[in-house]
Formats: sequence, structure tokens, C-alpha cells
Amino acid sequence: MQESSLRHAEEINSYLKALRHDLREHERLKLLLYIASTISQEMKLDKLLTLIMDEVKQVLQCDRCSVFILDRERGELWSHVAHGEEEIRFAAHLGIAGHVVATGKVINIPDAYSDVRFNPNIDKQTGYRTQNILAAPMRNKMGEIIGVFQAINKFQGAFIREDEELLDAISAIAATQIENAQLYENQKKTFDSLVETLASTIDARDPLTAGHSKRIALYADELAKVLHLSDQEREILRISALLHDYGKIAVREAILTKDGRLTEEEFKHIQNHPQFTRVILQKINFSKELQQVPLIAASHHERIDGTGYPSGLRDEQIPPLSKILAVADVYDALTSKRHYRNRMRFLQVIDILIQGSGSHFDPFYVDAFKKIKLDRLVRILEDEYVEQLDPDDLTFMSKFDIVDLLAAQHNSKTFGAAKRLLRIFNKYYNRDYLHDRL
Ligand SMILES: [Fe+2]
Repeated sequence: MQESSLRHAEEINSYLKALRHDLREHERLKLLLYIASTISQEMKLDKLLTLIMDEVKQVLQCDRCSVFILDRERGELWSHVAHGEEEIRFAAHLGIAGHVVATGKVINIPDAYSDVRFNPNIDKQTGYRTQNILAAPMRNKMGEIIGVFQAINKFQGAFIREDEELLDAISAIAATQIENAQLYENQKKTFDSLVETLASTIDARDPLTAGHSKRIALYADELAKVLHLSDQEREILRISALLHDYGKIAVREAILTKDGRLTEEEFKHIQNHPQFTRVILQKINFSKELQQVPLIAASHHERIDGTGYPSGLRDEQIPPLSKILAVADVYDALTSKRHYRNRMRFLQVIDILIQGSGSHFDPFYVDAFKKIKLDRLVRILEDEYVEQLDPDDLTFMSKFDIVDLLAAQHNSKTFGAAKRLLRIFNKYYNRDYLHDRL
């Protein structure tokens, strides 16, 4: 009787043990699935690494987590963002991470300072005290090590075997995503340099409009920031701005650089350029997110009253990002030195934008343009002399926007900060600061 109840108790015990194991395994898989789905959305390497490190910190209940990426060409390990630290770069054979690269094994060190592989120099530099470390290699699908995961200072006790297994599993998931993000970033760099080259070939056709495509992209981005547009919208806007005048490649150079008034026929010829932009850009195989670029770029001369070109679109028919380009394009044209005139007076420029509100421009975007901070405006305006701008002046101007400047200019009793603002802004707008240095 006693023996059978003992056996029964043992059976219950082992059943409960198996159940607890299954539950733990279930929790573990749920967690891994959650991490996989969270990180699979992110293609930007910086953000991805931060996201992974945050997840690992939480899952392993530790103070810090770093992801070191192996740069095989330079024989270095680097960490773009490490919790509480700046970028770190060191020879790939150094420290615990270096040891993981060399051996390909998970390392669990309960007491860092009693382990010879630990390099205390970083602690010395940062004033941080490392107690225990768990490090695991990250491998791609080919089994090659692409980096190292490092978790530091478990909140309670040291890292245990379950933590090792978990970090190993997370590393495998993260490796694939990190490699994808690296590949994506490389492709993006290639694409960006191609777009910038195309933009500069257009700007180079006419030295007096040099830098126009770059500046309109910068102004448009400032407008996008005022309007809190998403990263994706900002990217579409940037590419569209850089390429908006690409159709000018098909405009005869003699007309483009003509010194004097254009004949009606010549003016009509120039007005074809947005249509050329669209036709040429449609031949580019843009990614899904950038599909709208040809239309947005080609609609920068449309006007909300329907009298623009090439299609005579009206207000709501014009893509919102094209309306931003229209404001930025005109602002840059008026504030640049042209064949036939110098930089227009600032008040007059803003007046033209305001006068055009409701006919040429959508008033919403003109109002948003007036909220751009003056330091940003001056930086773009004087892009070619940016090193000569006084940082104190820029800090001062960063507190004011165009609305403030207009208020200061219209107010006859200007004194104090308003006077200073006008003096500093005009110094740059009229380029007196350059003469001062001659
Ligand atoms: Fe244009």
C-alpha cells in the first residue's frame, strides 16, 4: 500500500516536471517568435541593432547588451550603438568578443575580473564595472560568424545555462536580419550615389544654378520636418527633389543658359522639362516605396489654380509632396543668383510666396515653410560657405523662424533680440560676412 502510493507520488512528480519543462519550452518558443516578428519589420541597421539589444536586455534581465559586427575587410569588430557607450571599434581578436570570433563558442563568465580573457580597459575608460558576461557568436545561413552578441551584468546572480541557449537562439534569428539590413544598406548607398550623380549632372550644365537640386532637397526636407512627415515620405521627397529637374537634360543648352529674355518658343521648350523628367524617371526601376517619384518630381510646376504645367492639375489632383517641391523650388530660384539678377531681397521673396498662396501654392505649405528655423535656412542658403558660418550666430538663429523674422522686420520699434536677429540674418543673406573676411 505504502509502496504503491510512493510510486504514485513519483509519477505525479515526474509528470509535473515534464509539464513545467513543456511550459518553459512553450514560453521560450513564444518569446523567440515574438523577437523574430518584432525585428523582421526593421530594415535600418542602426534601428535594428538598437531594437535587438533592447529585446535581449529585457529577455535576459541584464544591464547592458552589445552587438558587435565583424568587419572582415578591416579585421575589426565594431558596435554602432552599445547601451550607455559610444561607437566601439577594436581588432577582431581582442577581448571576450574576439575570443568568441576565434572559437565560435558561447562564453559564460560569472566573474569577469577573475578571467584572463576579459579586457578591463573599456571599464577603465567608461567607469563602468563589469561583473558577469555572456557572449555568443552570430552566424549567417552559411555558418560563417558575422558578429558577436554580448550581454553584461545579469540583475540577479550570474547567467545560467538557459540564458546561454536563449542567446544562442536569438543570435541565429538576429544574424539573418542583420545580414539583410547590411545588404539593403549597401544597395541603398549605391542607389543614393547614383541619384546624387544624376542630380549633379543637371546642376553642372549651368554653373549659375549649381547646387539647386541639392538645395531644393534640403529645403523640402526642412518642410517635411516641420510637418512631421514619416521617414518614408521624407525619402520619397528627397529623391523626387534631387531628380525634379532631370528632364532639363533634354532642353537645349543655349536656351537653358540664355542671357536675356526667352522667346515664346524657347519658353515653351523649357516648359517641357517636367514631362521629360517623368518620361526619363519612369524608365528607372524604383523600389515599391519609391514608385510615386516620377509623378511627384514631374508635378513641381503644377499650380493649385490649374494654370501650371505639364498637366494643368488642380489643387487636390496635385500630389502633396509636389506642392512642397513647388514652394522649395521657387524659394531657391528667387534666393539664388541667376544669369539676369542677384539674390532678391528676402522680404520680397517671402512676399512672392505669400502672394502666390491660394493660386500658385497651397497655403498650408507656405505657412509650414515660414516655420523653418532660420539657422537651417541660412545653412542651406550658404551651403557652399558652410564652414564660414559662426556657430554662435547659428545657435542664436535656431530659436527663430521666418514668422519671427517678418515680425521683427515689420515692427518699426525693433530693439534688443529683434534687432540682433535682423542684423545676424541679413549679414548672411546679403553675404556681408564674406566681405568681412576679404
Ligand atoms: Fe523645374
